[in-house]
Amino acid sequence: MKKDFLSLSDWSLADLEGIFALTRELKTKQQQRIPHRLLEGKTLAMIFEKSSTRTRVSFEAGMFQLGGHALFLHSGNTQMGRGEPIRDSAKVMARYCDGVMIRTFAHSIVEEFAAHSSVPIINGLTDLNHPCQLMADLFTVSEHRPNYRQLVYCWIGDGNNMANSWINAASVFGFELRIATPPGYGPDPGIVDQALKAGARLILTNDPREAAAGADILNTDVWASMGQEEEQQIRAKAFADFQINSELLSSANQDALVMHCLPAHRDEEITNEVMEGPQSIIFDEAENRLHVQKAIMATLMAD
Ligand code: CP
Ligand code: NVA
Repeated sequence: MKKDFLSLSDWSLADLEGIFALTRELKTKQQQRIPHRLLEGKTLAMIFEKSSTRTRVSFEAGMFQLGGHALFLHSGNTQMGRGEPIRDSAKVMARYCDGVMIRTFAHSIVEEFAAHSSVPIINGLTDLNHPCQLMADLFTVSEHRPNYRQLVYCWIGDGNNMANSWINAASVFGFELRIATPPGYGPDPGIVDQALKAGARLILTNDPREAAAGADILNTDVWASMGQEEEQQIRAKAFADFQINSELLSSANQDALVMHCLPAHRDEEITNEVMEGPQSIIFDEAENRLHVQKAIMATLMAD
């Protein structure tokens, strides 16, 4: 039975920790240039309906390092972009490839693709969540703080796909998560509901200072996500008080770490100073996309 990577909440703690263990092994091998061709001769198709730097490059480089091949498809240049049914595209791709990574708008598109595909589907970001980024982020925290499951995490800003994925992670990994958003910009109610029912330690507030006080991790993302470009100005007003800056950081734990999935708008959701400061692990997160996704692909696609 093939398995997909669509949402962290579909996976158990033991499975996700297993992916972290494999990530550690593959990262060390990559750094020491020890071959680890776990996907020799295999092909990953990558379908993008939105822009990307990190996701595209890390999946493609990762597939190459694993001995396989990755194929970049912009949906606008495929028959999918001309309205070929998703189920037909899914069935056809599975005849050529060993896995498919998709970045798209509605989460239902990746779910429909997965339902009709006989090969694993990996979610490379939807409007609802971004599970690969979350795995890279949490793995990064674990490298800096081995007690990462005992820390207090704080999200400042938009209740977007990243915030939703952090809620899923809080539910699986059991850490405390405080989410501070402006009124009307909260996370997905269905994901909040599911997490609370699963016993997640989740605090929702409209006060960034309350959320950041004594926290171990401060995390944010752009105020307007891909597809919301037209709302940029109105959001800039609503989010003006939701910036990670040195003042907010000083209310967190003394050794708190600062995170951002990138791309960032410097001096909007996060100041340049904090982004470049000693508490930022932002570029480690970006690097770990490569290592974590190799482990995810090997887990899903290796023989
Ligand atoms: N963080 C992230 O997914 O970056 P890209 O949009 O560049 O892929
Ligand atoms: N929330 C952002 C994340 C980008 C990686 C977006 O969806 O555009």
